[in-house]
Amino acid sequence: MHVIESRRELQLRADAERAAGQRLALVPTMGAIHAGHLSLVAEGRKRADQVWVSIFVNPTQFNEPNDFEGYPRELERDLAQCREAGVDLVYVPRVEDVYPEGAQTWVDVQEITKPLCGASRPGHFRGVTTVVSKLFLAAKPQVAVFGQKDFQQLAVIRRMVRDLGFDVDVVGAPIVREPDGLALSSRNQLLGPEARQNAVGLVRALDIAEAAVASGERQSAPLLERVRAEIDGVPRSCVDYAELRDPETLELAPEALSAPTLLALAVVFEPDEDGQGTSVRLIDNRLLLDAGGPE
Ligand code: PAJ
Repeated sequence: MHVIESRRELQLRADAERAAGQRLALVPTMGAIHAGHLSLVAEGRKRADQVWVSIFVNPTQFNEPNDFEGYPRELERDLAQCREAGVDLVYVPRVEDVYPEGAQTWVDVQEITKPLCGASRPGHFRGVTTVVSKLFLAAKPQVAVFGQKDFQQLAVIRRMVRDLGFDVDVVGAPIVREPDGLALSSRNQLLGPEARQNAVGLVRALDIAEAAVASGERQSAPLLERVRAEIDGVPRSCVDYAELRDPETLELAPEALSAPTLLALAVVFEPDEDGQGTSVRLIDNRLLLDAGGPE
């Protein structure tokens, strides 16, 4: 497995591999690699000859300095996991290659970044789309794989790729979950033991909504009320948002639901009463009324 830090070196390798007829899949990550990330690697493997992973804790997408500083960093372990998963190359860019001295160019997608996480985390998606553009220009992949766990991120990147004409096939991969249903996330390890147990409330709320729709509920307001009531019953948690939206444009869903609809949730879990863990914001989502089934 190659490990490359220099953008120039990566570009030369990408040119050489593409000239040799290789199809490249890129899986962008911020490290703290878990089974969710590895599922994206497996997805990339199905669609390309080589799978490249990038690991970069991107400073510009963090709107809170504490979140950036506290973000788990475990490069050696990440590299070992990538090696074991058969990743062909890992790009661990230098900060100055991504953001050269005096950098002042941003990729800023408009409407679709405004609601949900965009509303709670100002500037977040501008950081994401800027870094993902730079990763595409550095690694020159034909395929890029993203998780549906970050549903809005996936929708924003699809929009960006269409708007800028990137010659990259964006693939969305299903959410990988813990045995109790909690979506895998690098941030789960920051939860205290009690908060970790409470976090399953997020999935319960999604299940409740899905069950309500299965038994015929088609009105947005009562559906969201049930979701909120479920989270309100979870100790030391607070709903950041619970919304029903169009899965492609992320516009608000109508009061009477008829087409596939995204239920998007973000919940903040406080540290445990005894002080263990930090305050952690988790997101999850479910596609309702989806003919293809959940996720
Ligand atoms: P990160 O949070 O490390 O996630 C990297 C990729 O893994 C994303 O596409 C995310 O949706 C996917 N992922 C995370 N948890 C998952 C799960 N439980 N199941 C399936 N996929 C999962 O998302 C980012 O990094 C950054 O914003 C990035 C795109 C790398 C830009 O900096």
